[in-house]
Amino acid sequence: MSRALPVTACVLSAAALILAAPAATAAIDAAAAQALAKESECFKCHTVDKTKKGPSYKKISAKYKGKADAEAKLIKHMTSGPKVKLEDGSEEDHKIIETKDQAEIKNLVGWILSL
Ligand code: HEC
Repeated sequence: MSRALPVTACVLSAAALILAAPAATAAIDAAAAQALAKESECFKCHTVDKTKKGPSYKKISAKYKGKADAEAKLIKHMTSGPKVKLEDGSEEDHKIIETKDQAEIKNLVGWILSL
């Protein structure tokens, strides 16, 4: 009963196998990201996974994950100092990150989005 399988023209398309890999996944330096956040006193209001005066970074990540403009939005947020509402209901201008180094800022944003 070991008939050779008929070779048919039924060639599966392999084209769909290689979907675009996530673009620009430069290696994230988590230690540097946290050091920058610490230096800029971001942890006064944010933690990785607990809500303080601001949402946890995991929550922020969940909100933005998969959105094409996530990086741009978060960079803008931490460099422009928009008015934000704290958990206690008061409002203040958001803290501005204490570096102008785009690579460092991108690394921090990448870290947050990786959580
Ligand atoms: C005084 C408290 C406070 C400090 C300090 C602070 N944040 Fe925030 N942050 C907030 C609050 C409150 C929100 C929520 C704003 C909202 O959803 O309207 C927020 C939101 C964010 C978001 C999400 C923005 C969005 O569009 O959802 C990011 C990213 C962020 N902060 C990063 C940082 C970084 C980086 C630092 C340090 C440079 C920092 N925060 C320091 C209170 C703070």
